[in-house]
Amino acid sequence: MGKTYKIAVIGGDGTGPEVIAEGIKVLKAASAKYGVKFDFTNFDFGGERYKKTGETLPDKAIDELKKFDAIYLGAIGHPDVAPGILEKGILLKLRFALDQYINLRPVKLYDNVWTPLKDKGPNDIDFVVVRENTEGLYTGTGGFLKKGTPDEVAIQVSTNTRKGVERCIRYAFEYCKKRNKRKQLTLVGKTNVLTFAFDLWERTFKEVAKEYPDIKTDYNHVDACCMWMVKNPEWYDVIVTDNMFGDIITDLGAMIQGGMGIAAGGNINPEGVSMFEPIGGSAPKYTGKNVINPMAAIGAGAMMLEILGEEKAAKAVENSIMETVKKMKSQAAGKMGFSTTEVGDLVAKGV
Ligand code: IPM
Ligand code: MN
Repeated sequence: MGKTYKIAVIGGDGTGPEVIAEGIKVLKAASAKYGVKFDFTNFDFGGERYKKTGETLPDKAIDELKKFDAIYLGAIGHPDVAPGILEKGILLKLRFALDQYINLRPVKLYDNVWTPLKDKGPNDIDFVVVRENTEGLYTGTGGFLKKGTPDEVAIQVSTNTRKGVERCIRYAFEYCKKRNKRKQLTLVGKTNVLTFAFDLWERTFKEVAKEYPDIKTDYNHVDACCMWMVKNPEWYDVIVTDNMFGDIITDLGAMIQGGMGIAAGGNINPEGVSMFEPIGGSAPKYTGKNVINPMAAIGAGAMMLEILGEEKAAKAVENSIMETVKKMKSQAAGKMGFSTTEVGDLVAKGV
């Protein structure tokens, strides 16, 4: 028997706890079969706790979370709480405080999953976005001048450090090498307008590329990337980009791989504590109805196994996901042909 992984579970808001429960069901099945042991500890951070206590994520919670091997997160966002409070106070705070500088978002169309792209199939849609996760427009740098007056000024700065850009680009090259598919890394930016930020990105990209002669490199402006993702997704293998562009193109990516119900992501600190989450939101209107698709959360669990180094168990979960989606009518909430818990049961049984 291997080590016991200590996992912090933050179900969070809306359907978060429901989908995470199915993910845990599947992880327990993998645990029984592959001898990977888990010790799960629940935390109640989210909108309900904020409403009761006014607290989002206290600093002492960060210290405590640092003691875990990984964090498994459902969803953050509550209809009664103003936008930004929970997202910044919990999700972004965790990413920043734990220095999870990579947001890894695979865009993979499984067999029998519907894509809105006509004439494209699983062979065409299979790439990974490496999104920088601690800098760019997300640092909260900026402010207002003369707020609420006709002379109001709002400034929001994109912060790009050489260190932050380089470690992200290096991760992307290493990932592309390890993935060993088309061995092609595309930098996505906006060098024609954001001539400071993406100048730094492009220079760093070209420098690091010299260390990886086996990897083909390419560059796309972000607007063109949106176009190619729809027209020729098969051109992509691995994409590396900044925080904001990565946020935007991975929602587009989620849609072409079958929707928010299936898109998983990892907030990764390769030297520290990483956090895995379905990339869709808290879906308040589906909460408590047993209709939400837990596949993205289950996929995030598989990614957690992979990053923890439990590759056999990770593959088994992914294979079971692939078999289960073949049985499902759709990946959309309420249209799956199964309930949330039934989907979890099917994947767990197939592990
Ligand atoms: C995501 C989300 C978050 C982001 C929000 C909820 C702050 O959209 O994980 O992609 O913008 O990063
Ligand atoms: Mn997003």
